[in-house]
Amino acid sequence: MKRIGVITRDCGGVNAAIRAVVRTASARGLEVLGVMRGYEGLIHGDFVPLDRRSVSGIINLGGTILKSARSEAFFTEEGQKRAVESARGRAIDGLIVIGGNGSLTGAHVLAGRYGIPTVGVPATIDNDINGVDLAIGADTAVNVALDAVDKIRDTATSLERIFVIEVMGRASGYIAMHVALAGGCEEVLLPEKAFDMTAISNEIRAGNAQGKVSWILIVAEGMAKAEDVAAAISLNTGLETRIAVLGHIQRGGRPTAIDRLLAAKLGHQAVLALAAGESDVCVSLKDDRTVFVPLATAIRPKTMETASDYELLKVLS
Ligand code: F6P
Repeated sequence: MKRIGVITRDCGGVNAAIRAVVRTASARGLEVLGVMRGYEGLIHGDFVPLDRRSVSGIINLGGTILKSARSEAFFTEEGQKRAVESARGRAIDGLIVIGGNGSLTGAHVLAGRYGIPTVGVPATIDNDINGVDLAIGADTAVNVALDAVDKIRDTATSLERIFVIEVMGRASGYIAMHVALAGGCEEVLLPEKAFDMTAISNEIRAGNAQGKVSWILIVAEGMAKAEDVAAAISLNTGLETRIAVLGHIQRGGRPTAIDRLLAAKLGHQAVLALAAGESDVCVSLKDDRTVFVPLATAIRPKTMETASDYELLKVLS
């Protein structure tokens, strides 16, 4: 193996992972081509050579220096064939794909259907890669959202208000559950768990009657809209509510130490694995040891176990 390509999605810690890939590859005499804008760049042959110096000063930056895009074309056979031709045309011997479910599904296609040696690095704020305890970016997202929740708490407490805060996660309640617990919130609505609006409203009304006037409820975007939940609470209790929708701030921001360390280890191990002949797997850590999860397993839906964390939240709130 002489030349590898690296493809990315964006979230906190992805630049640190690119740096680890490039510097590990360079230490082993491998050339690296960065693929611009994810699979779109692979289809269109949009590559940029990366050496040790190109990845200086990026460890602390959010996003991805390689930019990213959702590629519809790559999920067609024609798009895939063009991508494979362009990789072969530039003598790319193997690929490292850093991203979430969509990216790793593409990696599985390239490895399984077209025989391009490909190793995945899990990176998604949703932390929903099956068989992977922690993906790069999830810790940063939780910390960004937590910072916002802490700030909202200042005003919620001062004005004795009820706030409903919507966080990211279409199919995953990872951010919501972790922010709710770490932020000392009263309630959390998760895609993984049905909720009862009447019971929640009754709890707020009863609490309010006993002098508990400030509440923070976290809602995962995939379960409900903050607006609708707030309106239902107001209707059922007659109390005033306010909302905040945190949105894409959660995919940005300075990566936490946890994400940078994970990125360093996984980026490094991905290169070693690719050079050692591994393919169609993603790298992960279990008890601080490297493990390889087959991509076919990694891209299956992962359902977060919520019962014990939810119970803890209700005991502590
Ligand atoms: O998968 C990561 C994620 O940030 C989800 O939490 C969110 O639902 C989605 O991507 C948003 O996608 P887009 O940036 O394309 O709107």
